[in-house]
Amino acid sequence: MATPEQQFGFGTPATPEQIAGWDIAIKADGTGLPPGSGSVAQGEALFAKLGAKCHGAKGEGTTNAPALVGGRGSLDTDQPVKTVGSYWSYATTLYDYIHRAMPADNPQSLKPDEVYALCAYILYLNDIVPQDAVMDAKTLPQVVMPNHAGFTSPDPRPDVFDTPDPLLPAPTAPGG
Ligand code: HEM
Repeated sequence: MATPEQQFGFGTPATPEQIAGWDIAIKADGTGLPPGSGSVAQGEALFAKLGAKCHGAKGEGTTNAPALVGGRGSLDTDQPVKTVGSYWSYATTLYDYIHRAMPADNPQSLKPDEVYALCAYILYLNDIVPQDAVMDAKTLPQVVMPNHAGFTSPDPRPDVFDTPDPLLPAPTAPGG
């Protein structure tokens, strides 16, 4: 009888090194953040070199890339502007996103110190941290984003919340 590995007759098990290359998620609580640190000033210099050409000098956005600042107070209007500053719920997502995907023309090229510095600068541009802020694995998860309380939990949408979980017994009918 064929073992599960033999079933399809092709492919090889992923090596720990290969898995490590994909296993880069940073959790909301900061789990996974690496050692290192970066300041607003360092982030400003890096952003001018690596980010401004697409996001604008102060993160205001261009036709190439979205704004990283602004939009505060717009979410419950007819024209909500979703940015890191107005919408994102956790500062740690910034580390995950920048490390994973930015700069878009050379993703995953940044070292932890550089990613922390860029996080610090973008948070500073959004008036979320002061100009002398330094971000690291301890300080970044402590940053409270302006829209942190703007998400509803548990999700009340009927198609999400009321979907029966196939792993749980079906709910019993009222009175039944
Ligand atoms: C190191 C410098 C950079 C930083 C820190 C940075 C940061 C970010 C962040 C935080 C976002 C998410 C915005 C959001 O969804 O609200 C983003 C999105 C994006 N960035 Fe950058 N960025 C950098 C460089 C670049 C460059 C050089 C380009 C163009 C070549 C670029 C193009 C884009 C695009 C197109 C998106 C939208 C992607 C999507 O929604 O799928 N970025 N960037």
